[in-house]
Amino acid sequence: MQKLSELRLPPPPRRHLLSIADLERADVERVLETARSLAASIDREVKKLPTLRGRMVVNLFYESSTRTLASFELAAKRLSADTMSLRSAGSSVDKGESLKDTALTLSAYEPDVIVVRHPSIGAPQLVARLTDAHVVNAGDGKHQHPTQALLDLYTMRETLGRLEELHVAIVGDVLHSRVARSLVQALALVGARTVLVGPPTLVPRGMEALGCEVSHEIDAIADADVVYVLRMQHERMGQAFVPSLREYTALYGIGPDRVRSGQVVMHPGPMNRGVEIDPRVADSEAALVTDQVRSGLVVRMAVLYDVLTVAPAASDSSGANAAARLSLEIA
Ligand code: CP
Repeated sequence: MQKLSELRLPPPPRRHLLSIADLERADVERVLETARSLAASIDREVKKLPTLRGRMVVNLFYESSTRTLASFELAAKRLSADTMSLRSAGSSVDKGESLKDTALTLSAYEPDVIVVRHPSIGAPQLVARLTDAHVVNAGDGKHQHPTQALLDLYTMRETLGRLEELHVAIVGDVLHSRVARSLVQALALVGARTVLVGPPTLVPRGMEALGCEVSHEIDAIADADVVYVLRMQHERMGQAFVPSLREYTALYGIGPDRVRSGQVVMHPGPMNRGVEIDPRVADSEAALVTDQVRSGLVVRMAVLYDVLTVAPAASDSSGANAAARLSLEIA
């Protein structure tokens, strides 16, 4: 018979955040509530929490990033985790090392979480299959950017007080945008109404299946509560999708004449000022761009906490228990 001292509790279920499509509404609500609790902690003089002491978070970035990488690093530090960031440039990837070998090499250090950004769709799923770590998708090609969608929901709810029946117009280069795909799915989960607006060449067919409307007329933004502007992704455009940037700006650029009183304007960054967004709008009271960056920190803290401590919402009630533990730590 097995001795009591030899009995081991089963490990917690391994959780990843790979796609908004894997989440239920309760998962989204839980992460947003956790982020709100954490927001109180970062307003204090001592900003660090002991929550993830002894855990290790690795950031593995194969594409440029300012906001996502900086906020994941800071989020891990604020929760007292050890962090290591590896950008492909300057690493052995330059010498031809594959994603598989890099993932296996890093997993020898036994990280608890690996945050992955990669230009190829499915790269975070591959890392999740190869390692024992919890994997968070920080953007894979034009597929998904789930933490961006969560931080955008958080920003909208904190600013406008609700998500249910909020009317959001997402404008611009939908075709190349992982932000748009994730956000459309996330808004559908929480009961918001979304319209995608852009030229036919930049809005792929069939997007309605994700739970949104499509319009090619810029006037479709007029009734929206939120005008969410997408970046023109020059680096992903192998051919001309618009006759010229000047014409795109004239037809779909968000200038002061297109923003009505009471609307808020969001942009995931980095912005092409003067192309998809006029600087007068980007710097106006209506713009929530800096709020989005601030939300990114608390939402990514919440995501790290969530993948490491909370069982799937549908399977049991430990999500509520974990939230209760966290509020005790913050208090
Ligand atoms: N929005 C976003 O993902 O920004 P970065 O590319 O700077 O991380």
